[in-house]
Amino acid sequence: MIPYMIMALLYLFVAIFAATAASFSSWRILPWFNGMVWLRVHFITIGVITQIVFGVMPILTAKYHGVTRPKMRWDIWSSLNVGIILLLVGIPLVSKVPIITGGTLIFIATTLLLIQLAGIKGKSGKSSGAQNGRKFYISGLIFFLIGILVGTGLFTGWSGPLGIVGDPGEVHIHANNWGFISLVFAGFFIDLYPVWTKRPLASSKAITPIFWMLTLGALALVLSPWLSNKTLAAIGALLHTGSTIWLLVLAIKPLLGDKAAWTPGIAHLLASYFWLFAPLSMAPFIIFGIEGVMPAKALEATTPQALIYGWLLQFSYAILPYFYQRFFFGEEDAELGGTWLSFTLVNLGAIFLWASILIEPMRSLLHGWAYMLWILSLLPIAWDVWQKTKAGMAKAETIAIS
Ligand code: HEM
Repeated sequence: MIPYMIMALLYLFVAIFAATAASFSSWRILPWFNGMVWLRVHFITIGVITQIVFGVMPILTAKYHGVTRPKMRWDIWSSLNVGIILLLVGIPLVSKVPIITGGTLIFIATTLLLIQLAGIKGKSGKSSGAQNGRKFYISGLIFFLIGILVGTGLFTGWSGPLGIVGDPGEVHIHANNWGFISLVFAGFFIDLYPVWTKRPLASSKAITPIFWMLTLGALALVLSPWLSNKTLAAIGALLHTGSTIWLLVLAIKPLLGDKAAWTPGIAHLLASYFWLFAPLSMAPFIIFGIEGVMPAKALEATTPQALIYGWLLQFSYAILPYFYQRFFFGEEDAELGGTWLSFTLVNLGAIFLWASILIEPMRSLLHGWAYMLWILSLLPIAWDVWQKTKAGMAKAETIAIS
């Protein structure tokens, strides 16, 4: 797990620089630097989040099935990380060979992880009951394979041969966010909510229907831009939003009336979903191109960033420090990360980014402030994770030399 945590920390630092450049270029402090959206989005999505979930999912699944912790899979780690580096070279240069090689290596890493997860069997040799995150992880990774295929094909001309009729960029975003990350985060709720809150989710019977609604909702949201079919978009949005709200209700109900349970970490986990719903609620304006009421073009161009920073990054503010404390120091019931300062700043950042979409005359100023607020919200988390890494590595090295 440690090699994944070291790489994720590295990309967290790089993400801070990318966000700083985005803020300064919006404020015209760096007029010559136009900052690549791809970099600032993917340092977080594949650099930090994919890294951590690849390390964590086999360990949680083995734990749940009562089998020994799986050994570090260097084949998965190296194909993922060599793939990411090749993409970081190929995408900014729009160069086919590194893009295709990088995408293929990440596709291989994801397939190997899928096989590893599917192969974990309980002591009884049977895979255990339904109430665990594994099926969410496996379904999520299948959507990631679709996201990788379409993402790798975006700049290399694969969208046509793949039969994509609508917007391939949207297929990619939907597969990775409504599919991959939504399902993996739901799996974390299933496996870790009892650890984080010392109580079970409000109902375990709802887990299987939530799984199928989330999976079918994500599938419809991927097929909609793929086939340019708006009905599928509506069905998908309903299923996906319905199941996500259902999951959040299962998580909020047991905490009601218990003030002490509402820590910054829990607030980060739950409030982050507001920024997942926000783009979905704007979908009708984009789908039907209602420019008059909402600036559909600005919405389409900017909401992915609000999704990644407002939802995905905020969710990671809670889970990253938890996983670093758990896996460097063996503390399964470690604290979730985040502070009320990071909570306030990250959500203010998302509000400013949405304001930059809606208030055209102040767009650059507000966009710059959105990124500055996100940077300020990220600093305490990056510092916390760094301190845990330093202490964890010092402990590991002492054990190694003793
Ligand atoms: C092998 C992995 C991946 C590849 C090859 C890839 C490739 C791409 C490419 C080529 C674009 C279009 C950029 C542009 O039009 O300027 C893009 C955009 C995007 N990708 Fe990925 N991506 C990958 C993984 C992911 C993951 C894991 C996520 C999220 C969880 C993600 C989320 C996004 C988002 C939100 C955008 C839109 C960015 C924007 O324009 O604001 N990608 N990706």
